[in-house]
Amino acid sequence: MRRYHVTTFGCQMNAHDSERIKGMLEELGLGEAPAQEDADVLVFNTCTIREKPDRRFAAHLAQARALKEREPDKVIAVGGCYAEAQRERLFSLYPFVDVAFGPGSIPHLGEWLGAGGLGVERSAFGTAEDRAFAGRLPRHRERRFQAWVQISMGCNSVCAYCIVPAVRGREVSRRPGEILAEVEGLAREGVREITLLGQNVNSYGRDVGSDFAKLLRACDVAEGIERIRFTSPHPKDFRAGVIAAMAECAAVCEHAHLPLQSGSTRVLKAMRRTYSRERYLRLVDELRAAIPDLALTTDLIVGFPGETDEEFEETVSAVEQVGYDGAFTFVYSPRQGTEAASLPNQIPEELKRERIERLIEVVQHVAEARKRERVGRVEEVLVEGPSRTDPAFLRGRTRRNTTVVFAGSAAPGELVQVRIEDATSTTLRGVELATVAA
Ligand code: 5AD
Ligand code: SF4
Repeated sequence: MRRYHVTTFGCQMNAHDSERIKGMLEELGLGEAPAQEDADVLVFNTCTIREKPDRRFAAHLAQARALKEREPDKVIAVGGCYAEAQRERLFSLYPFVDVAFGPGSIPHLGEWLGAGGLGVERSAFGTAEDRAFAGRLPRHRERRFQAWVQISMGCNSVCAYCIVPAVRGREVSRRPGEILAEVEGLAREGVREITLLGQNVNSYGRDVGSDFAKLLRACDVAEGIERIRFTSPHPKDFRAGVIAAMAECAAVCEHAHLPLQSGSTRVLKAMRRTYSRERYLRLVDELRAAIPDLALTTDLIVGFPGETDEEFEETVSAVEQVGYDGAFTFVYSPRQGTEAASLPNQIPEELKRERIERLIEVVQHVAEARKRERVGRVEEVLVEGPSRTDPAFLRGRTRRNTTVVFAGSAAPGELVQVRIEDATSTTLRGVELATVAA
């Protein structure tokens, strides 16, 4: 049997795309290889959000090239956001690549790989009109009881730093009926937790006569789905209806990942985020008033062009004021073709480093205080498997999306009650009390 290997970079959307790629390759009769060396077809699903994933991919590709020099029959396919961003020059940069595809053309990958025969001709990307949801493709899921569900593709925002709109195109919503059919099908397969995915989930639906609040409510009634998550919302589109749906739907988890990016209204404006610090903080108040036990996480960028020390300090103070449960912190990375890459006053690397180090310290401090508040409580945990660091313990996540490492005997996929006994900035520790529902 011929074998494939998929290497995935980037966000949850990419991880989900990779499930579809794997499902499709399996439908073509290929089996999964444990490592790149063992595979006949090597797929790279790339990310280009910052320079770092670009560099990591370049290192991987150099290895793949060496493998192909030894075994010229190996097929190398490069997809995802980096491939799309480099579509004009990908084949000239990397002549040993056989197939290239953008994030919107996964449904075509099967044809391009030669419909089973894998007699590959060097094929290139589809066009913008070819963009299609991969929702009808088979998928290869890592976990029986958790699933991602794509609700839209593309993004209509114009954030000055971000390459995503250029590579994933204009926003298109998937039909609500199609999404619900998928969710119900997943529930029948034993899925208990779904994560709705979109570049901006709460602008969902304008083009298909729906909206995100309605979608949440419809998913909430699906029998067997006990946890609903979503990522990512844009603060500018977080309307009252969505807050109400979160508060009222039993399955929707008490967690919002709400990317702030900067705590300075001046910088937010330069970023074209279209909200101010004050408006964001008001939204946080509204969310917390409606959902008292809400966990909040965020994305933060330091060193956006022109960011002053004072403006950076406003990001620090926003972290303290909101009291985030966690945050992804990024050093601004200029992306070719974006507005911010050609702005004057790019910040020196060293200053960006200093700022991110300080920010990480504050984030950890605040997150640890939030985690400590949970000690002594009993939390509902969805068991994911053994702990990665100590297999004598189990690992799972609370509704607020915190990882818990605990002593217990439950099986993966079970919901259990865990008494929390200790906390770090990222993880809780505890002891299983009883199984909630098998
Ligand atoms: N540089 C640094 N971070 C970025 N992000 C997006 N583009 C850039 C960039 N050019 C961050 C944002 C976004 C997250 C997914 O990545 O914080 O929310
Ligand atoms: Fe995901 Fe953005 Fe990376 Fe694409 S560029 S994989 S959308 S994080």
